[in-house]
Amino acid sequence: MRSLLFVPADSAKKLDKAMTSGADALIVDLEDSIALDGKTRARESAAAFLKETVATTLRPYLLVRVNGLQTGLTDADLEAVVPAKPDAIMLPKAVGGAFVVHADAKLTAREAISGLPEGHIKIVALATETATALFLAGSYTGASTRLTALTWGAEDLSAELGAERNRDTKGRFLDPYRLARVLCLAGAAAAEVAALDTVYVDFRDSEGFRRECEEARRDGFSGKMAIHPAQVPIINELFTPTPEALAHAQAIVDAFAAQPDAGVVAIGGVMVDRPHLAQAKRVLARRIGK
Ligand code: COA
Ligand code: MG
Repeated sequence: MRSLLFVPADSAKKLDKAMTSGADALIVDLEDSIALDGKTRARESAAAFLKETVATTLRPYLLVRVNGLQTGLTDADLEAVVPAKPDAIMLPKAVGGAFVVHADAKLTAREAISGLPEGHIKIVALATETATALFLAGSYTGASTRLTALTWGAEDLSAELGAERNRDTKGRFLDPYRLARVLCLAGAAAAEVAALDTVYVDFRDSEGFRRECEEARRDGFSGKMAIHPAQVPIINELFTPTPEALAHAQAIVDAFAAQPDAGVVAIGGVMVDRPHLAQAKRVLARRIGK
């Protein structure tokens, strides 16, 4: 999954627009983009949208961002949306693997009530939104087979840290958020799930956005979340391996296939060893752009 577009659940117009955005996934949001007194209406709108959309062919992957387990709102969120069979929920403000275990149990109960097979609904956890969560980024390993990705967020973390800003004047993340980003990346790799990069809120700044996508792909993120449809084509472009990258990865795989006992080979005068082979296979696995 390369691009995941956030859509406030209470906006029928944006939900409609999102379907033609080209995003690999939509994140129907019940959390931060919905005011407290609008939650009930947003749940109804999310469920109606999912019911209509889940059955269609060639649709994007459908997630619902529920409210965090700390809020007391999660059960009502799940009660409204699980019968509509989303592909996954996004769990915000997760504080370590224990939160995923907890969400897993809630989903298991709701799936049974809705007649869905156990494990049908996956989990993507937002792993860096509280200070404590940073220290538990390595605790997602083995939490649940539902966990398919970790992602991270800077907005809630800045509020928690009491920071004045989270980016410098050039739009680059400051140190506390660069740490959160790396902890997400390492936590995801340790748990053997995908790492997804956070949102870029300045949606008119396509140059800064492009740079952030490039840095994310370079460092190992497999996709990025978007808040505006204009960001989607940029993500899809930059997280799809180029023909050159695919050809290079194929050359590495071929070189090792030709010398199965070799630990190291040379390609174009450059040493290539086993870790490069693992990375080359990862690039080839992304060929279809998922
Ligand atoms: N999904 C689907 N459609 C969206 C969209 C989104 N995330 N963001 C904007 N659009 C639509 C607008 O409705 C508008 O449609 P129109 O041309 O039919 O009128 C079009 O794209 C252009 O939007 P624009 O005028 O540039 O932006 P805006 O001022 O309408 O919206 C935001 C700006 C930030 C309010 C909007 O992008 C948004 O709601 N983003 C998601 C917010 C969110 O979910 N946050 C939680 C996660 S951090
Ligand atoms: Mg938030």
